[in-house]
Amino acid sequence: MQLVSTLDELRAVINGWRRHGERIGFVPTMGNLHQGHLELVKQARARCERVVVSIFVNPLQFDRAADLAAYPRTLEQDCARLGELADLVFTPTPDLMYPGGQQQQTRVVVPGIAEVLEGALRPGHFDGVSTVVCKLFNLVQPDLACFGEKDYQQLALIRKMTADLNMPVEILGVPTVRADDGLALSSRNGYLTDAERALAPELAATMNWLAGLMADGERDTEQLAAAGSARLNDAGFRTDGIDIVDADSLLPLTAQSRAAVILMAAFLGKARLIDNRVVTL
Ligand code: PAF
Repeated sequence: MQLVSTLDELRAVINGWRRHGERIGFVPTMGNLHQGHLELVKQARARCERVVVSIFVNPLQFDRAADLAAYPRTLEQDCARLGELADLVFTPTPDLMYPGGQQQQTRVVVPGIAEVLEGALRPGHFDGVSTVVCKLFNLVQPDLACFGEKDYQQLALIRKMTADLNMPVEILGVPTVRADDGLALSSRNGYLTDAERALAPELAATMNWLAGLMADGERDTEQLAAAGSARLNDAGFRTDGIDIVDADSLLPLTAQSRAAVILMAAFLGKARLIDNRVVTL
């Protein structure tokens, strides 16, 4: 595996692969890799001759400087975890990605999806995500890019961006990888104490309980969300939002909705955990 941090080196390697007609799979990350990321890389590896992983803690998608500073940077451990699964790891600096400074950076704004739910709570966050992913796609020129279904709204955002901008990149959503007790794997789980880690599977359990109620015909999304919040808060979480919306538009359910997605966000100690599940209606 090659570690590359300049644009010239990246272009030279990508051009060489392209000349040989090799298919390129891409997994953009912010590092601190866990089994969930490795699953994305494996899926890319299964479909492409070459696999690129980017590790870049993107300042443009953080709304609080303290969160950006505290984000774990674990490059050596990440490279060891990737081993030979990736052909190339791209580790640009903020100056390389935003040479004119963040304020002067041209932005890619995805209307609708970027503004609702998580986007309404963190203004500008999804513009930072779509902008960096667009730039990375232009640099890496992948045939396929893999994103986790755990970040449901992010995946919907990237799908819309690539479709709206006619980007020649296939987007593969990869199912969430879970621990044996049901907890979705996430870099944020590292913030949990042992006692919180023992409690954490209750998030997925509550989500599955809500999905069961919906399967039984319950459609009052406000009542469902309130019942889910109460159950989580009783268990020791601080619920930050339960939204049950149309799985395609992320807008409120209508009589035409094919499927709903249950989006869960709750604090457990310092960690803000998220999870989601699609329910066919
Ligand atoms: O999901 C992430 O880790 C980031 O949002 C991404 C897609 C790498 C963009 O910085």
